[in-house]
Amino acid sequence: MLLLLLFIFLFLSPLSLSVNQEGALLLQVKSSLDDPNGFLSNWNPSDQTPCNWTGVGCDKLTQSVTSIDLTGASVAGPFPLLLCSLQNLTSIILFNNNINASLPSNISTCHNLQQLDVGENLLTGELPETLADIPNLVYLDVQGNNFSGDIPENFGRFPKLEVLSLTGNLLNGVVPGFLGNISTLKQLNISYNPFIPSQIPPEFGNLTNLENLWLTQCNLVGQIPDIFEKLKNLQNLDVAANHLEGPIPGSITELISIVQIELYDNSLSAVFPSGWSRLTALRNLDASMNKLSGKIPDELLGLPLASLNLYENEFEGNLSESLANSPNLSELRLFQNKLTGQLPRDLGKNSPLIWVDVSHNQFSGELPEDLCANGQLLELLLIYNSFSGKIPEKLSECTSLMRIRLGNNQFSGEIPSGLWGLPHVSLLELVGNSFSGQISSSIGGANNLSLLIIAQNNFSGLIPEEIGMLGNLYEFSGSDNQLSGFLPRSIVNLTQLGTLDLHNNKLSGEIPLGIQAWKKLNDLNLANNAFSGSIPAEIGSLSVLNYLDLSRNQFAGKIPLELQNLKLNLFNLSYNQLSGDLPPFFAKEVYKNSFLGNPGLCGDLEGLCPGKDDSKSGNVWLLRSIFMLAGVVLIVGVVWFHLRYRNFKKSKGAIDKSKWTLMSFHKLGFKYAYTLRVNEKSDIYSFGVVILELVTGKRPVDSEFGEKDLVKWVAFTIDQKGVDHVLDPKLDSCFKEEICKVLNIGLLCTSPLPINRPSMRRVVKALQEIGGENQLKAIKKDGKLSPYYYEDASEPGSVL
Ligand SMILES: *[C@@H]1O[C@H](CO)[C@@H](O)[C@H](O)[C@H]1NC(C)=O
Ligand SMILES: *[C@@H]1O[C@H](CO)[C@@H](O)[C@H](O)[C@H]1NC(C)=O
Ligand SMILES: *[C@@H]1O[C@H](CO)[C@@H](O)[C@H](O)[C@H]1NC(C)=O
Ligand SMILES: *[C@@H]1O[C@H](CO)[C@@H](O)[C@H](O)[C@H]1NC(C)=O
Ligand SMILES: *[C@@H]1O[C@H](CO)[C@@H](O)[C@H](O)[C@H]1NC(C)=O
Ligand SMILES: *[C@@H]1O[C@H](CO)[C@@H](O)[C@H](O)[C@H]1NC(C)=O
Ligand SMILES: *[C@@H]1O[C@H](CO)[C@@H](O)[C@H](O)[C@H]1NC(C)=O
Ligand SMILES: *[C@@H]1O[C@H](CO)[C@@H](O)[C@H](O)[C@H]1NC(C)=O
Ligand SMILES: *[C@@H]1O[C@H](CO)[C@@H](O)[C@H](O)[C@H]1NC(C)=O
Ligand SMILES: *[C@@H]1O[C@H](CO)[C@@H](O)[C@H](O)[C@H]1NC(C)=O
Ligand SMILES: *[C@@H]1O[C@H](CO)[C@@H](O)[C@H](O)[C@H]1NC(C)=O
Ligand SMILES: *[C@@H]1O[C@H](CO)[C@@H](O)[C@H](O)[C@H]1NC(C)=O
Repeated sequence: MLLLLLFIFLFLSPLSLSVNQEGALLLQVKSSLDDPNGFLSNWNPSDQTPCNWTGVGCDKLTQSVTSIDLTGASVAGPFPLLLCSLQNLTSIILFNNNINASLPSNISTCHNLQQLDVGENLLTGELPETLADIPNLVYLDVQGNNFSGDIPENFGRFPKLEVLSLTGNLLNGVVPGFLGNISTLKQLNISYNPFIPSQIPPEFGNLTNLENLWLTQCNLVGQIPDIFEKLKNLQNLDVAANHLEGPIPGSITELISIVQIELYDNSLSAVFPSGWSRLTALRNLDASMNKLSGKIPDELLGLPLASLNLYENEFEGNLSESLANSPNLSELRLFQNKLTGQLPRDLGKNSPLIWVDVSHNQFSGELPEDLCANGQLLELLLIYNSFSGKIPEKLSECTSLMRIRLGNNQFSGEIPSGLWGLPHVSLLELVGNSFSGQISSSIGGANNLSLLIIAQNNFSGLIPEEIGMLGNLYEFSGSDNQLSGFLPRSIVNLTQLGTLDLHNNKLSGEIPLGIQAWKKLNDLNLANNAFSGSIPAEIGSLSVLNYLDLSRNQFAGKIPLELQNLKLNLFNLSYNQLSGDLPPFFAKEVYKNSFLGNPGLCGDLEGLCPGKDDSKSGNVWLLRSIFMLAGVVLIVGVVWFHLRYRNFKKSKGAIDKSKWTLMSFHKLGFKYAYTLRVNEKSDIYSFGVVILELVTGKRPVDSEFGEKDLVKWVAFTIDQKGVDHVLDPKLDSCFKEEICKVLNIGLLCTSPLPINRPSMRRVVKALQEIGGENQLKAIKKDGKLSPYYYEDASEPGSVL
């Protein structure tokens, strides 16, 4: 008997361990879903009930399943309609999964459902009208899917619905009035749908239980109907980002429970209605980006607002002092209006201000002293007003500040020293005032300063050495002041610098060593100071420099050739004391005004550096920056060609084209290289021509060139079509880079202005560089290179 019992027990135990019917159903649901994260992995068939399974909720007494919540489970597949077979199921939450395809219309078989949340899934198609047949549905959220088409008319018949969220779908019918029939609604959220242009249905004015009405970006047009009188429970009203026009209806001030009103980005006009003092719950009002006008009602400013955004409107008149009484005011954005008068004296005294932007108005008078009394101010933006007086000393203790823009006002006096060094400030804009005094050395504490814009004031004295500590400084604009003394050496430590504009000051001394660290410098303007010394060649290494203005200083010496590496949109070295040759690239008409008033430079620019055609060779000069070639070979070749050219002069046209291959260099005897002296500028031109012949494989005069000779043809063709069109196709393309460099040397040598032609010494040096170190060393060991390479080292006027 015992044995029998044991046997029966053993036999039946697998059965007794298997799950109940609802569990079995859920396992079927599980098998219909992709579950890449194993969210359903503890849905275990050997449990008796599914009540301990993740996402499953049961009635405590009957153990029957009442809720499914798979929020964020990342499950995929069609809506698991099988759930509707769970008779006591009241809640399905599938928020944020990958439920796809459409919501089946027999979802209404989920007869006991009170809550359905399929938000943030991949559902498409129309909303099933049968949803309204679920008699106890209280909460329906389908936001963030791709439902399209109309909102089904049946939706007007939900008997108990309190929350309807259709936000963020592709619903493209009208905004239907029948939703105003769902008298139980507390939340109506249909924002962000591409409805056809619709008016706000007046029926919504019947939703007396409504707490939140979100109609953001619903393609709403026309006026806001005057429907708010009965909405005594409404706390949030959002009709932002539509095309609403006309006045704000008077009944808006009947919304006695309203906490937040969002009207921004419409075309609302006219003056604010009166009666705001009734809205004692109002904390946030945003009516920015409309055409609202008139005074900002004192009544409104007397409310204990937390945020007030009315920017980009046409408001005018004074701001009531009562604004300063808001105990929680943190956000005040009134920029781009026509507001006048002073800011409330006590603004900030009672309010934890964080963001203040009243820029682009007509405010005047002094700044309130206590703007930062609560120590939370991040942004103080006041540009383009008529504020005057000194900056309140207290502001310099406002260590929370990150952005300060006081530009284009009528402030005066010294900046409180602490303000320069506020530790979090990234933008300090003081431009266009009458500030005076020095830049305080406390600026070294402004660790985060990125933009320092203090131009057009009366600042004087030295730029403090501590400026070099501002490792994030991107722009230093200090033009039109009285700054004097030297640039601090530390300024080269500003490796993030993009703009350094100090023109119209009284700065002197040399540009400090080490500016090649300004790798990001785009704009260097030191014009109209008293800088002296030479222009550092390192400027040529600032590869993103776009604007270079050093005019009206006392820079002397030569213009560094390295400047030719730059691609400048503005280039001005006028009115200095520069001398020597103009770098070839700049010897053209467009640069004429870049060098005015440098008597020692190239003599009279007009006469000495003319020629539009030569400008082509300037472009080619850029190629020069691509260096290296088999130099040895070329040194030989160059000299050989020099000789060759002399022969050529005698027997014009007798050159055998087939010989002009790079390989032919190798075969030339070295002896010419070691014995010849080639240093006359006229000869340089000659062998420049020969180099061009070599590289192009063309004769100096050819019918192909038309009016042009070889030199002009090369420059013209490179300019119009590119280098590839001038290179001799017979040349080994492996050497293309080197050949291009040789070509550049040829172009240099054939520069129309003798003064721009390099000396032979320079040419050889350039060729040598192309040749690379190794080959050179090899030759130097033999002691064979030196003869002509060093001899004319003192030759003046060399350009290369
Ligand atoms: C659920 O798990 C708890 C412990 O985790 C256990 O005590 C309880 O018996 C389980 N209930 C069911 C129905 O499996
Ligand atoms: C649903 O709940 C009722 C009691 O509320 C219970 O009698 C019934 O058995 C439950 N249904 C299922 C399938 O568990
Ligand atoms: C729905 O998701 C499942 C599981 O990822 C996939 O197999 C099926 O192709 C998807 N169906 C559609 C219509 O995207
Ligand atoms: C739901 O409707 C579809 C067709 O629309 C049908 O194939 C399916 O069997 C129905 N499911 C239930 C549970 O009624
Ligand atoms: C939903 O619509 C967007 C925009 O039309 C589209 O990019 C996306 O692929 C759609 N997703 C699905 C699941 O249909
Ligand atoms: C309005 O709601 C009532 C009851 O909830 C319903 O009987 C009626 O059909 C609805 N009307 C519309 C137009 O949806
Ligand atoms: C309604 O939409 C807004 C965005 O417009 C969102 O912040 C809010 O949470 C949504 N409310 C509901 C209940 O979906
Ligand atoms: C508001 O409801 C009342 C009755 O409940 C009805 O008479 C009136 O027409 C409705 N108003 C709108 C604009 O739908
Ligand atoms: C101000 O904010 C505090 C904290 O958030 C809150 O307790 C207080 O009620 C607010 N005061 C007003 C007038 O809104
Ligand atoms: C506006 O304020 C200024 C001073 O700030 C005052 O002189 C002027 O009377 C005020 N205007 C109005 C209309 O209140
Ligand atoms: C520095 O300024 C940037 C903005 O330019 C800001 O995002 C960052 O939080 C600031 N850091 C500190 C430490 O203040
Ligand atoms: C530049 O910075 C380095 C280290 O960041 C420092 O050692 C050097 O003194 C600084 N130079 C100047 C001139 O401040």
